[in-house]
Amino acid sequence: MMRIDIISAVPDSLVSPLNTSILKRAQERKIVEIVVHNLRDYAYDKHKQIDDKPFGGGPGMLLKPEPFFECIEKLISERKYDHIIFPTPGGKIYDQKLANNFSMTENLMIIAGHYKGVDDRVRERFATDEISIGRYVLTGGEIVALAIIDSVVRLIPGVLNDSESALNDSLMDGDIIEAPYYTRPAEYKDLKVPEVLLSGHEKKVKEWKEEQSKILTEHWKKINSME
Ligand code: ADE
Repeated sequence: MMRIDIISAVPDSLVSPLNTSILKRAQERKIVEIVVHNLRDYAYDKHKQIDDKPFGGGPGMLLKPEPFFECIEKLISERKYDHIIFPTPGGKIYDQKLANNFSMTENLMIIAGHYKGVDDRVRERFATDEISIGRYVLTGGEIVALAIIDSVVRLIPGVLNDSESALNDSLMDGDIIEAPYYTRPAEYKDLKVPEVLLSGHEKKVKEWKEEQSKILTEHWKKINSME
């Protein structure tokens, strides 16, 4: 079974997304074990303090190194981690290829700090992969951790059911945008489902989907300046 550890100062923010829908099912099926660690549980001083003022001044507080070191050193003494992921806007931009690579491992750890938020010695000592999920700034690494976990876990064999997998043919991931989907009613307000999908003509449906996919993929490349 794959194992994913997340270290967070706000672990409550992870509970609902990790225990809903497909991620919940993957854990129930014993395909993945996801363990959330509360940073505060590793603060051993009297006041259980996890943050402090930055050296050299500046606004805000930083997460102290010791609770991270305590937690991470305990975890790496217990098992070998394939990747210790550190979310940061300065990291490698996350994509399907990274998700594929992460999905084929045994043990992952994600250090969910806060932007301008963690004493840099934590990254320096432990991070094997510095990851950004896009060119914008979040308040913390928790949403990054969830994006990575969701994209990784759905790739593990047995997580998606056959019907879900069919929608997610490997070709349909990453750099190919799929044709749109419709269900009943065939007509709603003034909006009609494309006629070909109602025809029952398998070959024509297949051709239509391929054509739509081509158009959407070209459009996607254009609006993202990829050509
Ligand atoms: N921390 C803050 N913003 C981030 C981003 N876009 N990606 C990864 N980590 C972050």
